[in-house]
Amino acid sequence: MRQPRWIATFGLSEAPFSKDIADDDLWMPSSRLALVDELTEAIKDHHHALLVGEPGGGKTCTLRALRRRLPEAGFRLTYCHNATLGRRDFYRQLCVALGLSPKATAAAVFHSISTHVEQLGREAVHPVLMLDEAHLLRQDVLDHLHVLCNYQWDQKPLLSLILVGLPELWDSLSLRKNRSLWSRIHHRVAIGPPGLGDTNEYVDFRLKRAGAKTMPFTSDALSTLHEATAGQLRDVDRVATKALRAASRRKMSKVDVELLVRVLEADQRAEGRS
Ligand SMILES: Nc1ncnc2c1ncn2[C@@H]1O[C@H](COP(=O)(O)OP(=O)(O)OP(=O)(O)O)[C@@H](O)[C@H]1O
Ligand SMILES: [Mg+2]
Repeated sequence: MRQPRWIATFGLSEAPFSKDIADDDLWMPSSRLALVDELTEAIKDHHHALLVGEPGGGKTCTLRALRRRLPEAGFRLTYCHNATLGRRDFYRQLCVALGLSPKATAAAVFHSISTHVEQLGREAVHPVLMLDEAHLLRQDVLDHLHVLCNYQWDQKPLLSLILVGLPELWDSLSLRKNRSLWSRIHHRVAIGPPGLGDTNEYVDFRLKRAGAKTMPFTSDALSTLHEATAGQLRDVDRVATKALRAASRRKMSKVDVELLVRVLEADQRAEGRS
């Protein structure tokens, strides 16, 4: 596929802010690495964990970094991101994700999953169930999840649940009605608000990965980019890409703050229309 002209304008080999980024190429500053380490330790200790953060802040990418770090032998990761199902369909989906044939009744589905988890336990394989978009989980599923974690009179930690979602997930899990599940989640981590240094480092990292030899944003433009996006990476990706395109169209060698403000205004107008 032919690359758009703006990519060559800035001496890049590919679009720098694409979502298609290999697990090995993820940006991992020490703050994110600490989160991945904590989640890795949680899984190695056969615990459950919660990860929350704002939309586009990098939760799913953090899960991918976690997948990369966890040894393949001894762990079986299952990733589910369709969280809007009722209890029976939720467990049916889980059956399929685990490679089991879905059964007709809720009880049979549940039995099939727990038997499978016990079998993995006998084979010294620890299943890890990553539930992304978990803020969308329905209450009937939340009411039941702790039952899925109960093996041999709640003595054997045969399964780790990793719940991932928006910050409101933390609030809803900590409600009294969810205390059976909440009390079982030993590791609770949040992607904190990024600082200007994080945004600068992220932009620099992604541009260099795409072959940039010089920084095509002025430092004022980077500060404005950070303020406008609050450092949320998906927004940074979108605005930075639009700004590079606009600079290329205007034959500018750098994105300056005036251009960035114009791009942001156009971006907000476009959002207002949808
Ligand atoms: N560690 C990272 N390295 C490189 N790029 C990243 C990283 N984290 C996030 N990104 C970029 O930000 C985008 C959004 O990240 P991600 O999908 O992980 O956010 P999220 O928190 O899961 O968002 P949502 O709540 O909407 O699901 C990614 O598509 C990617 O371009
Ligand atoms: Mg996500």
